[in-house]
Amino acid sequence: MDISEIDTPALIIDLDALEANIEKMGRFCHENDCNLRPHIKVHKTPAIAHKQIQAGAIGVTCAKLGEAEVMAFSGIRQILIANQIVGPIKLQRLAGVTRHADVSVAFDDPQVAEAASREALRQDTTIGAAIEVDIGMGRGGLQPGADVVALAKKITKLEGLEFKGIMGYEGHLQQIDKMADRVPQVTASLKLLTSTAKMLKENGIATEFVSCGGTNTYNISATFEGITEIQAGSYVFMDVEHDIEGLDFQHSLSVMSTVTSRGGEHRALIDAGIKCFGAEPIFPRSVRKGIEVVSLSEEHGWLKTDGSAPAVGERLQFYPYYSPTAVNLYDKFYCVRKGRVEVQWDILGRGKSQ
Ligand SMILES: Cc1ncc(COP(=O)(O)O)c(C=O)c1O
Repeated sequence: MDISEIDTPALIIDLDALEANIEKMGRFCHENDCNLRPHIKVHKTPAIAHKQIQAGAIGVTCAKLGEAEVMAFSGIRQILIANQIVGPIKLQRLAGVTRHADVSVAFDDPQVAEAASREALRQDTTIGAAIEVDIGMGRGGLQPGADVVALAKKITKLEGLEFKGIMGYEGHLQQIDKMADRVPQVTASLKLLTSTAKMLKENGIATEFVSCGGTNTYNISATFEGITEIQAGSYVFMDVEHDIEGLDFQHSLSVMSTVTSRGGEHRALIDAGIKCFGAEPIFPRSVRKGIEVVSLSEEHGWLKTDGSAPAVGERLQFYPYYSPTAVNLYDKFYCVRKGRVEVQWDILGRGKSQ
Protein backbone atom coordinates (compact mmCIF):
# COMPACT_ATOMS: atom_id res chain seq x y z
CA MET A 1 0.00 0.00 0.00
CA ASP A 2 1.09 3.55 -0.67
CA ILE A 3 1.70 5.89 2.31
CA SER A 4 -1.25 8.00 1.07
CA GLU A 5 -3.59 5.06 1.75
CA ILE A 6 -2.86 5.00 5.51
CA ASP A 7 -5.79 6.35 7.52
CA THR A 8 -4.92 8.96 10.13
CA PRO A 9 -3.91 9.58 12.85
CA ALA A 10 -1.22 6.92 12.47
CA LEU A 11 2.29 6.19 13.67
CA ILE A 12 4.78 6.04 10.82
CA ILE A 13 8.27 4.54 10.93
CA ASP A 14 10.79 5.54 8.27
CA LEU A 15 12.49 2.15 7.94
CA ASP A 16 15.71 3.44 6.34
CA ALA A 17 16.21 5.89 9.21
CA LEU A 18 15.29 3.31 11.88
CA GLU A 19 17.73 0.75 10.49
CA ALA A 20 20.51 3.34 10.17
CA ASN A 21 20.03 4.33 13.84
CA ILE A 22 20.06 0.72 15.03
CA GLU A 23 23.16 -0.07 12.99
CA LYS A 24 24.99 3.07 14.17
CA MET A 25 24.44 2.41 17.89
CA GLY A 26 25.31 -1.28 17.50
CA ARG A 27 28.56 -0.37 15.74
CA PHE A 28 29.48 2.35 18.24
CA CYS A 29 29.08 -0.01 21.21
CA HIS A 30 30.96 -2.80 19.46
CA GLU A 31 33.85 -0.48 18.53
CA ASN A 32 34.04 0.78 22.10
CA ASP A 33 33.86 -2.68 23.64
CA CYS A 34 30.69 -1.91 25.59
CA ASN A 35 27.60 -4.12 25.64
CA LEU A 36 24.31 -2.65 24.52
CA ARG A 37 21.08 -3.68 26.24
CA PRO A 38 18.68 -1.12 24.73
CA HIS A 39 15.64 0.11 26.64
CA ILE A 40 12.53 -1.08 24.80
CA LYS A 41 10.03 1.14 26.64
CA VAL A 42 10.55 3.38 23.62
CA HIS A 43 9.07 1.02 21.01
CA LYS A 44 7.55 -1.87 23.06
CA THR A 45 7.78 -4.02 19.95
CA PRO A 46 9.56 -7.39 19.59
CA ALA A 47 10.15 -6.85 15.85
CA ILE A 48 12.35 -3.83 16.65
CA ALA A 49 14.04 -5.50 19.64
CA HIS A 50 15.06 -8.40 17.41
CA LYS A 51 16.57 -5.95 14.90
CA GLN A 52 18.59 -4.39 17.73
CA ILE A 53 19.85 -7.82 18.76
CA GLN A 54 20.78 -8.66 15.16
CA ALA A 55 22.82 -5.44 15.20
CA GLY A 56 24.77 -6.57 18.27
CA ALA A 57 22.63 -5.86 21.36
CA ILE A 58 22.99 -8.56 24.03
CA GLY A 59 19.32 -8.39 25.04
CA VAL A 60 16.91 -5.70 26.19
CA THR A 61 16.18 -3.46 29.16
CA CYS A 62 12.55 -2.98 30.25
CA ALA A 63 10.80 -0.64 32.65
CA LYS A 64 7.90 -2.95 33.45
CA LEU A 65 7.37 -6.65 34.12
CA GLY A 66 4.62 -6.68 31.47
CA GLU A 67 7.14 -5.44 28.88
CA ALA A 68 9.63 -8.12 29.99
CA GLU A 69 6.97 -10.81 29.51
CA VAL A 70 6.25 -9.59 25.96
CA MET A 71 9.98 -9.63 25.14
CA ALA A 72 10.64 -13.02 26.81
CA PHE A 73 7.74 -14.68 25.04
CA SER A 74 8.99 -13.31 21.70
CA GLY A 75 12.20 -15.28 22.22
CA ILE A 76 14.51 -12.69 23.77
CA ARG A 77 16.74 -14.30 26.38
CA GLN A 78 18.71 -11.56 28.18
CA ILE A 79 16.41 -9.11 29.95
CA LEU A 80 17.11 -6.46 32.58
CA ILE A 81 14.13 -4.89 34.32
CA ALA A 82 15.61 -1.54 35.35
CA ASN A 83 12.96 -1.01 37.98
CA GLN A 84 11.76 -2.44 41.27
CA ILE A 85 9.23 -5.29 41.16
CA VAL A 86 7.24 -5.27 44.35
CA GLY A 87 4.43 -7.34 45.91
CA PRO A 88 3.41 -11.01 45.81
CA ILE A 89 1.33 -10.79 42.61
CA LYS A 90 4.22 -9.39 40.58
CA LEU A 91 6.89 -11.58 42.20
CA GLN A 92 4.91 -14.67 41.19
CA ARG A 93 4.90 -13.47 37.56
CA LEU A 94 8.57 -12.48 37.76
CA ALA A 95 9.60 -15.91 38.98
CA GLY A 96 7.44 -17.46 36.26
CA VAL A 97 9.10 -15.53 33.44
CA THR A 98 12.59 -16.46 34.70
CA ARG A 99 11.77 -20.04 33.73
CA HIS A 100 11.63 -18.83 30.09
CA ALA A 101 14.38 -16.20 29.90
CA ASP A 102 17.39 -14.91 31.83
CA VAL A 103 15.72 -12.01 33.66
CA SER A 104 17.46 -9.70 36.11
CA VAL A 105 15.59 -7.12 38.14
CA ALA A 106 16.70 -4.05 40.07
CA PHE A 107 16.48 -4.20 43.87
CA ASP A 108 16.98 -1.43 46.40
CA ASP A 109 15.24 -2.98 49.39
CA PRO A 110 16.32 -6.04 51.42
CA GLN A 111 12.76 -7.11 52.24
CA VAL A 112 11.79 -7.16 48.56
CA ALA A 113 14.91 -9.24 47.87
CA GLU A 114 13.89 -11.70 50.61
CA ALA A 115 10.35 -11.98 49.17
CA ALA A 116 11.77 -12.55 45.66
CA SER A 117 14.09 -15.25 47.02
CA ARG A 118 11.16 -17.07 48.67
CA GLU A 119 9.12 -16.92 45.46
CA ALA A 120 12.04 -18.15 43.33
CA LEU A 121 12.50 -21.12 45.68
CA ARG A 122 8.76 -21.84 45.61
CA GLN A 123 8.83 -21.95 41.81
CA ASP A 124 12.21 -23.72 41.70
CA THR A 125 13.86 -21.02 39.62
CA THR A 126 16.53 -18.32 39.83
CA ILE A 127 15.93 -14.59 39.59
CA GLY A 128 18.84 -12.43 38.45
CA ALA A 129 19.47 -9.63 40.92
CA ALA A 130 20.84 -6.20 40.12
CA ILE A 131 21.09 -3.39 42.64
CA GLU A 132 19.95 0.03 41.53
CA VAL A 133 22.27 2.84 42.58
CA ASP A 134 21.05 6.44 42.73
CA ILE A 135 23.73 8.31 40.80
CA GLY A 136 22.15 11.71 41.27
CA MET A 137 18.72 11.44 39.71
CA GLY A 138 16.96 10.97 43.06
CA ARG A 139 14.51 8.38 41.69
CA GLY A 140 14.92 4.71 42.77
CA GLY A 141 18.09 3.14 44.06
CA LEU A 142 20.40 3.07 47.05
CA GLN A 143 23.03 5.69 47.68
CA PRO A 144 26.40 4.70 46.15
CA GLY A 145 28.91 2.85 48.34
CA ALA A 146 28.34 1.05 51.64
CA ASP A 147 24.54 0.60 51.36
CA VAL A 148 24.98 -1.16 48.01
CA VAL A 149 27.72 -3.42 49.39
CA ALA A 150 25.50 -4.37 52.34
CA LEU A 151 22.55 -5.31 50.10
CA ALA A 152 24.83 -7.19 47.68
CA LYS A 153 26.23 -9.23 50.59
CA LYS A 154 22.70 -10.08 51.64
CA ILE A 155 21.61 -11.02 48.12
CA THR A 156 24.60 -13.33 47.59
CA LYS A 157 23.37 -15.31 50.62
CA LEU A 158 19.75 -15.54 49.47
CA GLU A 159 18.87 -18.77 47.70
CA GLY A 160 16.95 -18.37 44.46
CA LEU A 161 18.64 -15.04 43.68
CA GLU A 162 21.82 -14.71 41.63
CA PHE A 163 23.67 -11.43 42.10
CA LYS A 164 24.48 -10.05 38.65
CA GLY A 165 25.57 -6.46 38.96
CA ILE A 166 24.60 -2.86 39.49
CA MET A 167 22.76 -0.27 37.47
CA GLY A 168 22.23 3.47 37.60
CA TYR A 169 20.65 6.00 35.29
CA GLU A 170 21.98 9.50 34.74
CA GLY A 171 18.49 10.62 33.72
CA HIS A 172 18.81 14.02 35.42
CA LEU A 173 21.67 14.90 33.03
CA GLN A 174 20.08 13.87 29.72
CA GLN A 175 18.87 17.37 28.82
CA ILE A 176 22.17 19.26 29.12
CA ASP A 177 22.36 20.73 25.64
CA LYS A 178 26.06 21.55 25.27
CA MET A 179 28.50 18.65 25.10
CA ALA A 180 31.11 20.69 27.00
CA ASP A 181 28.72 20.99 29.97
CA ARG A 182 27.34 17.46 29.66
CA VAL A 183 30.65 15.57 29.78
CA PRO A 184 31.93 16.70 33.22
CA GLN A 185 28.56 16.31 34.93
CA VAL A 186 27.89 12.86 33.47
CA THR A 187 31.45 11.79 34.28
CA ALA A 188 30.97 12.77 37.94
CA SER A 189 27.71 10.83 38.06
CA LEU A 190 29.17 7.69 36.44
CA LYS A 191 32.08 7.71 38.90
CA LEU A 192 29.53 7.10 41.68
CA LEU A 193 28.55 3.88 39.90
CA THR A 194 32.01 2.63 38.96
CA SER A 195 33.47 3.42 42.41
CA THR A 196 30.62 1.37 43.92
CA ALA A 197 31.52 -1.53 41.60
CA LYS A 198 35.12 -1.20 42.80
CA MET A 199 33.97 -1.37 46.44
CA LEU A 200 32.00 -4.52 45.66
CA LYS A 201 35.11 -6.07 44.11
CA GLU A 202 37.18 -5.15 47.18
CA ASN A 203 34.55 -6.97 49.23
CA GLY A 204 34.90 -10.07 47.07
CA ILE A 205 31.63 -9.55 45.14
CA ALA A 206 31.94 -9.84 41.37
CA THR A 207 29.71 -7.86 39.02
CA GLU A 208 28.70 -9.39 35.70
CA PHE A 209 27.50 -5.96 34.58
CA VAL A 210 27.71 -2.28 35.49
CA SER A 211 24.90 -0.69 33.50
CA CYS A 212 23.64 2.85 32.85
CA GLY A 213 23.18 5.28 29.98
CA GLY A 214 20.50 6.93 27.91
CA THR A 215 20.52 8.18 24.33
CA ASN A 216 21.70 11.68 25.14
CA THR A 217 24.68 10.39 27.14
CA TYR A 218 25.43 7.15 25.25
CA ASN A 219 28.78 8.29 23.88
CA ILE A 220 29.99 9.32 27.37
CA SER A 221 28.69 6.22 29.20
CA ALA A 222 29.74 3.62 26.62
CA THR A 223 33.33 4.88 26.64
CA PHE A 224 33.63 5.32 30.41
CA GLU A 225 36.09 3.01 32.16
CA GLY A 226 34.20 0.48 34.30
CA ILE A 227 30.81 0.75 32.57
CA THR A 228 30.18 -2.61 30.89
CA GLU A 229 26.83 -1.96 29.20
CA ILE A 230 24.45 0.85 28.28
CA GLN A 231 20.64 0.99 28.22
CA ALA A 232 20.03 3.75 25.65
CA GLY A 233 16.69 3.34 23.90
CA SER A 234 15.35 6.47 22.24
CA TYR A 235 18.06 6.47 19.57
CA VAL A 236 15.89 4.14 17.45
CA PHE A 237 13.26 6.85 16.85
CA MET A 238 14.61 10.08 18.26
CA ASP A 239 12.11 12.84 19.04
CA VAL A 240 12.12 16.52 19.86
CA GLU A 241 13.38 15.87 23.40
CA HIS A 242 16.50 14.17 22.09
CA ASP A 243 17.55 16.98 19.75
CA ILE A 244 20.66 18.10 21.59
CA GLU A 245 24.19 18.96 20.53
CA GLY A 246 26.47 16.05 19.63
CA LEU A 247 23.81 13.48 18.65
CA ASP A 248 23.29 12.60 15.03
CA PHE A 249 20.67 9.88 15.02
CA GLN A 250 17.81 10.46 12.59
CA HIS A 251 14.15 11.08 13.30
CA SER A 252 12.48 7.82 12.22
CA LEU A 253 9.10 8.17 13.96
CA SER A 254 6.29 10.56 13.13
CA VAL A 255 2.56 10.89 13.61
CA MET A 256 0.67 11.35 10.38
CA SER A 257 -2.45 13.49 10.62
CA THR A 258 -5.05 15.06 8.32
CA VAL A 259 -6.05 18.73 8.17
CA THR A 260 -9.71 18.80 9.13
CA SER A 261 -10.48 22.52 9.21
CA ARG A 262 -9.04 25.90 8.22
CA GLY A 263 -9.72 28.81 10.48
CA GLY A 264 -8.33 31.52 8.25
CA GLU A 265 -5.25 32.18 6.18
CA HIS A 266 -2.69 31.15 8.81
CA ARG A 267 -4.55 28.65 10.94
CA ALA A 268 -5.56 25.02 10.59
CA LEU A 269 -6.71 22.09 12.69
CA ILE A 270 -5.52 18.49 12.46
CA ASP A 271 -7.17 15.27 13.64
CA ALA A 272 -4.44 14.56 16.23
CA GLY A 273 -4.37 15.98 19.75
CA ILE A 274 -3.22 14.93 23.20
CA LYS A 275 -4.62 11.40 22.68
CA CYS A 276 -2.29 10.98 19.68
CA PHE A 277 0.87 12.75 20.89
CA GLY A 278 0.66 12.48 24.70
CA ALA A 279 0.35 15.31 27.20
CA GLU A 280 3.92 16.51 26.97
CA PRO A 281 5.23 19.92 28.10
CA ILE A 282 6.40 20.85 24.60
CA PHE A 283 4.40 20.46 21.40
CA PRO A 284 5.30 18.11 18.54
CA ARG A 285 7.35 19.53 15.67
CA SER A 286 6.08 19.66 12.10
CA VAL A 287 8.15 17.79 9.54
CA ARG A 288 7.16 20.40 7.00
CA LYS A 289 8.82 23.80 7.60
CA GLY A 290 6.65 26.84 8.29
CA ILE A 291 4.03 24.98 10.34
CA GLU A 292 3.91 25.22 14.11
CA VAL A 293 1.71 23.38 16.62
CA VAL A 294 0.41 26.09 18.97
CA SER A 295 -2.02 24.05 21.05
CA LEU A 296 -3.29 20.51 21.55
CA SER A 297 -6.68 19.59 22.92
CA GLU A 298 -7.96 16.05 23.32
CA GLU A 299 -8.57 15.26 19.64
CA HIS A 300 -7.43 18.44 17.87
CA GLY A 301 -4.07 19.90 17.02
CA TRP A 302 -4.03 23.68 16.43
CA LEU A 303 -1.60 24.90 13.81
CA LYS A 304 -0.20 28.29 12.88
CA THR A 305 1.44 28.60 9.50
CA ASP A 306 3.95 31.05 8.03
CA GLY A 307 2.43 31.06 4.59
CA SER A 308 -1.04 30.04 3.59
CA ALA A 309 -2.55 27.26 5.67
CA PRO A 310 -2.60 23.73 4.24
CA ALA A 311 -5.82 22.66 2.55
CA VAL A 312 -8.49 20.63 4.30
CA GLY A 313 -7.71 16.97 3.62
CA GLU A 314 -3.98 17.57 3.32
CA ARG A 315 -1.81 15.16 5.33
CA LEU A 316 0.93 16.41 7.63
CA GLN A 317 3.55 14.58 9.67
CA PHE A 318 4.87 15.59 13.10
CA TYR A 319 7.74 14.39 15.28
CA PRO A 320 6.42 13.72 18.81
CA TYR A 321 8.08 15.62 21.64
CA TYR A 322 8.62 12.30 23.46
CA SER A 323 8.31 9.09 21.45
CA PRO A 324 7.70 6.58 24.31
CA THR A 325 4.44 8.20 25.44
CA ALA A 326 3.19 8.66 21.86
CA VAL A 327 3.95 5.03 20.98
CA ASN A 328 1.97 3.79 23.99
CA LEU A 329 -1.17 5.35 22.47
CA TYR A 330 -1.20 3.23 19.29
CA ASP A 331 -1.80 -0.39 18.31
CA LYS A 332 0.63 -0.53 15.42
CA PHE A 333 3.38 1.07 13.39
CA TYR A 334 3.13 1.57 9.64
CA CYS A 335 6.69 0.98 8.45
CA VAL A 336 7.45 2.90 5.29
CA ARG A 337 10.26 2.73 2.75
CA LYS A 338 10.37 4.96 -0.31
CA GLY A 339 6.74 5.99 0.06
CA ARG A 340 5.33 2.47 0.43
CA VAL A 341 4.20 0.57 3.51
CA GLU A 342 6.59 -2.38 3.65
CA VAL A 343 5.34 -3.95 6.92
CA GLN A 344 3.00 -3.22 9.81
CA TRP A 345 4.20 -4.06 13.32
CA ASP A 346 1.85 -4.58 16.25
CA ILE A 347 3.00 -2.71 19.35
CA LEU A 348 2.65 -5.78 21.55
CA GLY A 349 3.94 -4.09 24.70
CA ARG A 350 1.52 -1.18 24.39
CA GLY A 351 -0.22 -0.50 27.70
CA LYS A 352 1.77 -3.21 29.52
CA SER A 353 2.20 -1.04 32.58
CA GLN A 354 1.64 -3.79 35.14
C1 LIG B 1 16.54 3.34 33.67
C2 LIG B 1 16.57 3.89 32.29
N1 LIG B 1 17.55 3.48 31.45
C3 LIG B 1 17.63 3.92 30.19
C4 LIG B 1 16.70 4.81 29.68
C5 LIG B 1 16.81 5.18 28.23
O1 LIG B 1 16.87 6.49 27.95
P1 LIG B 1 16.64 7.02 26.46
O2 LIG B 1 15.27 6.62 26.07
O3 LIG B 1 16.79 8.49 26.58
O4 LIG B 1 17.65 6.40 25.61
C6 LIG B 1 15.69 5.29 30.53
C7 LIG B 1 14.70 6.27 30.06
O5 LIG B 1 13.84 6.76 30.72
C8 LIG B 1 15.60 4.80 31.86
O6 LIG B 1 14.63 5.19 32.70
